Amino acid sequence: MGFTDFQRDIYGDAGAPPYSVNLPALEEAARAVMSVEAFQYLAGSAGDEATARANRASFDSWRIVPRMLTGPDDPPSLSVELFGQTYPAPVALAPVAAQTIMHPDGELASALAAASVGLPFVLSSFASHSLESIASVGGPRWFQLYWPFDDELTASLLSRAASSGFSALVVTLDAWVVGFRPRELDLGYNPFLKGIGLATPLSDPVFMGRTAGLSDPDAGKMWASLVQGRAHSWSELEFLRAHWPGPILLKGILHPDDARRAVDHGMDGIIVSNHGGRQLDGAVSSLQALPEVARAVGSQCTVALDSGLRTGADVLKALALGAHFVLLGRPYLWGLALGGEPGVRHVLRSLLADLEVSLALSGRTLSTLAPSDLVRGDGTLW
Ligand SMILES: Cc1cc2nc3c(=O)[nH]c(=O)nc-3n(C[C@H](O)[C@H](O)[C@H](O)COP(=O)(O)O)c2cc1C
Repeated sequence: MGFTDFQRDIYGDAGAPPYSVNLPALEEAARAVMSVEAFQYLAGSAGDEATARANRASFDSWRIVPRMLTGPDDPPSLSVELFGQTYPAPVALAPVAAQTIMHPDGELASALAAASVGLPFVLSSFASHSLESIASVGGPRWFQLYWPFDDELTASLLSRAASSGFSALVVTLDAWVVGFRPRELDLGYNPFLKGIGLATPLSDPVFMGRTAGLSDPDAGKMWASLVQGRAHSWSELEFLRAHWPGPILLKGILHPDDARRAVDHGMDGIIVSNHGGRQLDGAVSSLQALPEVARAVGSQCTVALDSGLRTGADVLKALALGAHFVLLGRPYLWGLALGGEPGVRHVLRSLLADLEVSLALSGRTLSTLAPSDLVRGDGTLW
């Protein structure tokens, strides 16, 4: 059991870790070391945050029914193949913008930590480090696109990402208008309009050609106006397909019909996500949406899930309900705020050890996990 060494080491020579292994407890710890603006930007969701609460409530509403005496084999492996590459666990680091407001090392620290355990790091289009500097870290990397209404710029970003070794493209669809986020609004705070999180466009020759002489905040406004305010359409996916050589995943899918359309348009994967509750408040929780989406397309494309995952058991529940892998959001940023790269590594190692132990105790393997291993936590078993 590879990741469980972390647990064994804590009980052994390593002793107590510098931060809690209980990931939800890290949020309050991170608050103590962050500026009010950075904390509220990270913590905040849209509206009354009902969808953010629903994300957690959905995980809590399912219970795993473990099986015993399952045989003499070694405890199950977490290893998974995604888009022709093998990863040590079915977990990726979700794209999160402007990470230097959480720690000066920002995305570089997160990418390094992801590389140290071999998980894919998904770089946001609103990152504080360029595609090329994240490539220099050398770990598995995917690029998240906020899709500009500017084909030449889009083609330039995609070509830079491909030549910098980003192996998959994540196209985020659910943020074409910025969510109504009271915590940010009440502070009048948006990192991009302060010139933070703009490394992707500011390192792009096409974008720079458009903005010569503009200050960073003004360039930020221009970037935001290119990627937000209008929605693309299904037929335009052909453009991305023509300019991207690898797998494409659509992020923000919640309806089974949209999942089918993604498959019809030749997409390789979908990410069932409500953006961690930051976009449409009142939207369905991603775990609630997952079973229908997985039933619709789970055998035809790769299905991933994010929003609300905090523990190994949460990952197990998502996998049982049809996800092939998951993306972790806020928890790794709490680790980043607390300790830079070692802080993120701590979060990843805690989650993976918890997941490995949970899978073993469930008596299942990644390939045998199924919806029938879960019951609703509200009464009758079967
Ligand atoms: C502070 C913050 C910034 C984010 N920035 C992006 C982004 O730039 N692109 C994107 O596709 N998703 C972004 N997301 C959404 C995440 O990729 C992911 O869907 C979400 O965080 C998952 O929910 P969780 O934080 O509850 O795990 C952001 C989320 C947070 C918390």
